[in-house]
Amino acid sequence: MHKVVERTRIVPNIHLLRLEAPDVVRRVAPGNFVIVKIDEVAERIPLSVADWDRETGIVSIVFMTVGASTHRLAKLEAGDEIEACVGPLGRSQEIGKFGTVAIAMGCYGIGAVLPVARAMKEAGNRVIAIMEARAKELVYWDDRYREFADRLFVTTFGDSGPEAGRVSDVIDRLIAEGEQIDRVVAMGCMFMMKKTAEITRPHKLKTIVSLNPVMIDGTGMCGVCRCTVGGETRFACVDGPDFDGHEVDWEELTFRKRSYLDEEIRALSEWECRTY
Ligand code: FES
Repeated sequence: MHKVVERTRIVPNIHLLRLEAPDVVRRVAPGNFVIVKIDEVAERIPLSVADWDRETGIVSIVFMTVGASTHRLAKLEAGDEIEACVGPLGRSQEIGKFGTVAIAMGCYGIGAVLPVARAMKEAGNRVIAIMEARAKELVYWDDRYREFADRLFVTTFGDSGPEAGRVSDVIDRLIAEGEQIDRVVAMGCMFMMKKTAEITRPHKLKTIVSLNPVMIDGTGMCGVCRCTVGGETRFACVDGPDFDGHEVDWEELTFRKRSYLDEEIRALSEWECRTY
């Protein structure tokens, strides 16, 4: 069992969950994820690791409320216990001295990509942090990025005004202005990562995306997370979650991600009927 140390709502649909998970913390690295399970019969939820404390053994996770399971997670309180927090899973992000690294992020990815962004800075890169949200009220942790990022851009695609737009619009503009970017790392919703990869493709600008397909076991056994990258079948849980965004078959990934949409909607409405 894993004790919940904190569960806080950061913005209306994004929560921070801090758990005692010393076995995870011992080996975790930027880009890893965990699978959490609230109780014996609960769904397994793959979630990126947003931070950790090697001394206390506490792992931090930032998640977005989407379906019944994440809404259940959002009801946890400090002192509660959950059945499992398994990990670290997946390959860690490739950290190196690339030059200038643009970190593209949105929704849960703003929290989840923070360890990668910090590690890129510590490796000697110039870091440009670019975050998007639907509205100003959904922007969070910009202060954390301001502490170390060389440039920070915040865009809101549901608003109008000078800061309206998406991450991909900012990258497009920076390239047009002559900004030298050597690598892009994108984490967040699939649409944002796909758009980012589309913008950088003509410039042959290496773009690493952190895929978040449906997963079950997280160990390469079930095949549910399979995706096509560079024409080959890859399992996001063990071969990824990071892949070259220019090689991902986004159409297939989007189709597979939506396969259980009806069941997810039904599960959420049943959960809401039971809860409210
Ligand atoms: S989640 Fe089962 S193979 Fe990846």
